[in-house]
Amino acid sequence: MQTKLATIGIGAALAVPLSIISMALAQHSVALSNSGNSAGHFEEGSGFQGDKPFDQEQALADLRKKIEGQETKPAAEVFKNIQILKGMPAGRLLKVMELGYARSLGVNCTHCHTPGEWAKEDKPTKQVARDMMAMVNTINSELLKKIQNLKSTSPTVNCTTCHRGQIRPELNLTDKPRT
Ligand code: HEC
Ligand code: HEC
Repeated sequence: MQTKLATIGIGAALAVPLSIISMALAQHSVALSNSGNSAGHFEEGSGFQGDKPFDQEQALADLRKKIEGQETKPAAEVFKNIQILKGMPAGRLLKVMELGYARSLGVNCTHCHTPGEWAKEDKPTKQVARDMMAMVNTINSELLKKIQNLKSTSPTVNCTTCHRGQIRPELNLTDKPRT
């Protein structure tokens, strides 16, 4: 059951063709500062920049460097604390973090992580994100499949379907985001 969830969860969490990912990557805004700390251990070094503002591009660049040569290995073998996206290639997990999670919620990594302490469970939003993956998996693998006469052969929702760049999905068609 856990394995099945994990496998479907990958598609459900991402559910974005790679072409869209590359498009989104190309559009992604450029970081301001470039002075990262690339030394140190995996858990400590990546992205932590003292009292400077968090620089997401730098954090991602540091992480990509740390996993260089291991991009296609399963995330669970490369990272320390992967519970759902275990079989996802490690390089792809970083894209999911950047585009599937941060971008679709309109936040940066610090919404769910203390920079550099990526494996920790210190922010409740990280747990919520895992529970959201499970919900998305149930919607895609069970609930949508029961609806007859849909146009798609595999109807799919993902984080972006609801969040649309916001932490709290809208309930109404208003111009202003809810506060
Ligand atoms: C909405 C919450 C959320 C956001 C935003 C987010 N992450 Fe994550 N991150 C998670 C969750 C949940 C996991 C664990 C996934 C699992 O258990 O399968 C994770 C795992 C990771 C891991 C693996 C750590 C380890 O060793 O186990 C890294 C590295 C990581 N995230 C980096 C990032 C980076 C870099 C960003 C910003 C570009 C980011 N994350 C944005 C929720 C988030
Ligand atoms: C079916 C709609 C739906 C989908 C799909 C969905 N979410 Fe959510 N999400 C919600 C709702 C509703 C809330 C609660 C907002 C509130 O507190 O009012 C929420 C809240 C969250 C929060 C808490 C934000 C905060 O700071 O309070 C996180 C994190 C989150 N979602 C991550 C995800 C991730 C990651 C995905 C994709 C795997 C996802 N969500 C997919 C509807 C959705």
